[in-house]
Amino acid sequence: LVLILDYGSQYTHLITRRIRQLSVFSLCISGTSSLSSIAELKPRVVILSGGPHSVHVDGAPSFPDGFLQYAEENGVYILGICYGMQLIVQKLGGEVAIGEKQEYGKMDISVEQEECGLYGPEAACGTQTVWMSHGDEVVKLPEGFTVVARSLQGSAAAIENHSRRFYGLQYHPEVTHSPQGMETLQHFLFDVCGVTADWKLQDVLEEEIKVIKGMVGPDEHVICALSGGVDSAVAATLVHKAIGDRLHCVFVDNGLLRYKERERVVSTFKSDLHLPVTCIDASDQFLSKLRGVKDPECKRKIIGREFISIFDDFAHELEKKMGKKPAFLVQGTLYPDVIESCPPPGSGRTHSHTIKSHHNVGGLPKDMKLKLIEPLKLLFKDEVRKLGSILNVPESFLKRHPFPGPGLAVRVLGDVTEGNALEILRQVDEIFIQSIKDAGLYDSIWQAFAVFLPVQSVGVQGDQRTHSHVVVLRAITSEDGMTADWYYFDHKFLVDVVRKICNNVRGVNRVCQDITSKPPATVEWE
Ligand code: XMP
Repeated sequence: LVLILDYGSQYTHLITRRIRQLSVFSLCISGTSSLSSIAELKPRVVILSGGPHSVHVDGAPSFPDGFLQYAEENGVYILGICYGMQLIVQKLGGEVAIGEKQEYGKMDISVEQEECGLYGPEAACGTQTVWMSHGDEVVKLPEGFTVVARSLQGSAAAIENHSRRFYGLQYHPEVTHSPQGMETLQHFLFDVCGVTADWKLQDVLEEEIKVIKGMVGPDEHVICALSGGVDSAVAATLVHKAIGDRLHCVFVDNGLLRYKERERVVSTFKSDLHLPVTCIDASDQFLSKLRGVKDPECKRKIIGREFISIFDDFAHELEKKMGKKPAFLVQGTLYPDVIESCPPPGSGRTHSHTIKSHHNVGGLPKDMKLKLIEPLKLLFKDEVRKLGSILNVPESFLKRHPFPGPGLAVRVLGDVTEGNALEILRQVDEIFIQSIKDAGLYDSIWQAFAVFLPVQSVGVQGDQRTHSHVVVLRAITSEDGMTADWYYFDHKFLVDVVRKICNNVRGVNRVCQDITSKPPATVEWE
């Protein structure tokens, strides 16, 4: 296991992903985790991530006391990246100071040592371009350390104490702007730390099936909410493989679905997924609870609560039928939800559920009686798609764009029940998505959707003054939804879509496109 201690860098999850791409299992936990929780995981390598702090500031996050001693005594290799490197230096008696010149963006470094741990023979004594993002710099090394690479400005870009197994990189090898970064990580993990590339999704699948069989007793039952998306379809198929027909799936129409979504999804459950699914129409129940609610967090909490109450009712009905109440609920929670929900204290990164409560992580009521089964909670979205294809989940599910659990409630700003906001949004969204599909662009886009704004503006249609709504189109590219870029449509595509929307959707006279990346924005509007 390669363990990543997270100090709040926006790239931390990328380190985890890059290492998994090398077929090595990696996990990311808070950088301030206790020594016992680190030791329990028995890591062979620990990577200390970057972060937005300065080691000089009181309360700057750090690893627990005794961590470096534990690493030395147990033969654990330590690599600090950026802030992580500065932490090692400071804790071992070196010095970190505010740099005379800050180094941000692409920089050239030169590798100075021929024989070293961090660079293989091809990289040694050459120059390479790397991505830097730091204000502080190491000005005095701890005893026993050497500088193995320097920036052209002369600052330490890579340091090591090979005999004690401590290493540091001032730059970010995990980002694509450091073109040789992967090579460096690969050399470090395989040639220096002796890690083996033996992590496979097939093994994850077998392990999860074993865990679920162990958790769910032979006469116990499990329920699973299917949304029609990738995660719940893969999670349900996996659980079905483990416990067969003791899995009972439910699809809830919460009144916040897209155009004809219930009909479409239920028919693909039957034709493609071959899992028994009960469909519940709870749209009135959800919409009546949401009436007049404008605050996005309140909307999310209400929706989370209603879902749970419906699952409880469903469990009750099953109890009447089978004489035993289901004890478990399957959730398609993914690793980014888990990471975003547990950033290190003091990292400056807020808990995601204070940004927004993903209702499959932060929004479950404390008194919920159903125990959770979350077989995908250590996987990223692309890994879930690969696992789905090992499980023969049809492409119609695997290739669908993500759709949030709270549905259109996070795409209608303000009160979802006001006027015909939901209806307008459904029509606009359908035109946009259908146009994307017709243009053959659907699979090149991570996610595309429309947003309804509670804003009206003056327009002129058919020589008449109108005072109608503004809608926004958003399409993004992303690897895992944690960072995203906006998708560049050609001019003609946009002209056609806007014309179709204004000509066909009554109540809309203005269409905007959101061209903000994440960060600073999030994917959804709410
Ligand atoms: P944000 O808006 O947080 O979205 O940048 C990142 C990805 O997560 C999806 N999303 C959700 N998915 N329940 C979900 O299952 C939720 O509450 C939720 N909120 C956002 C979003 O669509 C995007 O793919």
